[in-house]
Amino acid sequence: MILERYRPLIAKALEKATELNGALAVLVRYPLGLAEPDGSPGPGIGGKLLRPSLVLFSCEALGGRPEPALPFAAALELVHNFSLVHDDIQDGDEFRRGRPSAWKAFGVGQAINAGDALLALALRTALLANLPSEAKVMAQELLSLATLQMIEGQILDLAGEGKALGVEAYLEMARRKTGALLGCAFALGTVAAGRPEFKEVSLELGEELGLAFQIKDDLLGIWGDPERTGKPVGSDLLRKKRSFPVSFALEKDPGLLPLLSAPEKHMAEILRRLGELGAKEAAKEEMEKRLKGAEKLAQELPWPSWARAEFSELLSFLAEREA
Ligand code: IPE
Ligand code: IPE
Ligand code: MG
Ligand code: MG
Repeated sequence: MILERYRPLIAKALEKATELNGALAVLVRYPLGLAEPDGSPGPGIGGKLLRPSLVLFSCEALGGRPEPALPFAAALELVHNFSLVHDDIQDGDEFRRGRPSAWKAFGVGQAINAGDALLALALRTALLANLPSEAKVMAQELLSLATLQMIEGQILDLAGEGKALGVEAYLEMARRKTGALLGCAFALGTVAAGRPEFKEVSLELGEELGLAFQIKDDLLGIWGDPERTGKPVGSDLLRKKRSFPVSFALEKDPGLLPLLSAPEKHMAEILRRLGELGAKEAAKEEMEKRLKGAEKLAQELPWPSWARAEFSELLSFLAEREA
């Protein structure tokens, strides 16, 4: 399994990348799970490490060795953590990976500093790779472009709160906020492997996977088990988020908007109407469609059979995950 195989390598690279001093070290290492707010050691890396694992997988599947790609992988995971630290401020979420989110632990001001530092550290980490300069320039270009697209997605996400966005607008938003970093993961792997001619199709492949991944996240955000997801029931509804199920339901029945505007009062009714309108099934169907799209794009890559088998296994895992 991709996520297990690369995990120890990536964890070590993240330890190394975050070797800093004083309060800066604590702010950068806390969100990753490497430190507690008082500076003592943390519980260990908390995330699934999906994006950095995909960098290494993409590199290996194209004939490269994973080790030289590690700084690119660590850099992308740092960008992802930057996005989560700021996202939790923007979404008002108090928990992340089963711990208080950075703003809950340090206050909003210091959490903004933590996110800023994670981003700067990411760009620096990628530069430290022991790869040709051309590869490092390409990696910087990919990382900075994907970060800009992710931020564009976050802008659309916040602008869409409380509005009657349809499915098209939703997909535009999710392609950027989540698809961009997953696309970047596969593309960084091509660069590290010295096969940048496969960069474009890899970007597309990751974006499709990112859409499927975000739709699954949306399903978990409404119908997931709070014990497993670490989020309260209906958390995205309470925040008036335009998730896939809500965008789909609003297109079918614009009369839902007043209910969605006062979710704390109408939670049971909203869930009933989403059920009647088939929003859950539609979301699952769209997720499956995007997973198939990713699989189709993968056929354009000269991956050996072990890589195809591992990729299929990952797709099933992502479709079935509960957290
Ligand atoms: C969470 O991403 C944010 C989304 C894009 C949905 P992950 O589910 O990959 O988060 P971690 O890193 O495993 O915690
Ligand atoms: C995830 O946004 C995308 C980014 C952080 C860029 P969400 O707000 O949908 O993700 P969760 O549910 O908080 O992880
Ligand atoms: Mg959020
Ligand atoms: Mg968000």
